[in-house]
Amino acid sequence: MAKTLQNSIPIFLIISLTVILFLISLTTAQNEYQFSKTLPPKRLGLKKEKLSHLHFYFHDIVSGKNATAVRVAAAASTNSSVTGFGFVVMIDDPLTVGPDPTSKQVGSAQGIYASASQAEVGLLMVQNYVFTDGKYNGSTLSVLGRNAVFSAVRELPIVGGSGVFRFARGYAQARTHTFNLTSGNAIVEYNVYVFHY
Ligand SMILES: *[C@@H]1O[C@H](CO)[C@@H](O)[C@H](O)[C@H]1NC(C)=O
Ligand SMILES: *[C@@H]1O[C@H](CO)[C@@H](O)[C@H](O)[C@H]1NC(C)=O
Ligand SMILES: *[C@@H]1O[C@H](CO)[C@@H](O)[C@H](O)[C@H]1NC(C)=O
Ligand SMILES: *[C@@H]1O[C@H](CO)[C@@H](O)[C@H](O)[C@H]1NC(C)=O
Repeated sequence: MAKTLQNSIPIFLIISLTVILFLISLTTAQNEYQFSKTLPPKRLGLKKEKLSHLHFYFHDIVSGKNATAVRVAAAASTNSSVTGFGFVVMIDDPLTVGPDPTSKQVGSAQGIYASASQAEVGLLMVQNYVFTDGKYNGSTLSVLGRNAVFSAVRELPIVGGSGVFRFARGYAQARTHTFNLTSGNAIVEYNVYVFHY
């Protein structure tokens, strides 16, 4: 009995030492490269979340010398599709406070819209609203949504933002203000509701 106890003490010591060394190596590795940790929101200066409503007009100018929307790609079958299925348009469309294109510009919508529906004209919208005015100057909102352009009101998710719009989420409602069938140019009214800090 006494002999068994004497034999098991060194084994116990060796196992404990191994476990301790293993734990030390783990914490050392964690201190060297820390991949993630929990932060209190106030560390980033985040206080109370607020809701903002933005109202502006989007000018989609597809023709003329100063076009702001250019077709960059299409499928071989796009022109024979009633919905233009497969075309891709790159835009840098002005955003103004009123429907008149000469009214004050507050930013632009930069990105892509593409015909993504074969049943009706339904656009995939992947755009950043880049604001250039006042407290929003330099901040952006990112939109990823569907735009069935012949519906009276279209709703597009706001999936994020930068600057004053960090952590943004919300939605945009689009209503066609005017659509010129001859030129293809459109003016679209937007109401954007967004939560941010
Ligand atoms: C295009 O833009 C230029 C410079 O802003 C302006 O002078 C011209 O009138 C515009 N042309 C058209 C067709 O809108
Ligand atoms: C399709 O139509 C556009 C104009 O709407 C034209 O620029 C393009 O060349 C046409 N593509 C084909 C493959 O016919
Ligand atoms: C927006 O910010 C840019 C860069 O900081 C600055 O040059 C520009 O004057 C600002 N515009 C307005 C309208 O505040
Ligand atoms: C529609 O576009 C055509 C061609 O650019 C232009 O002549 C006409 O004045 C526009 N109509 C309206 C109502 O702006």
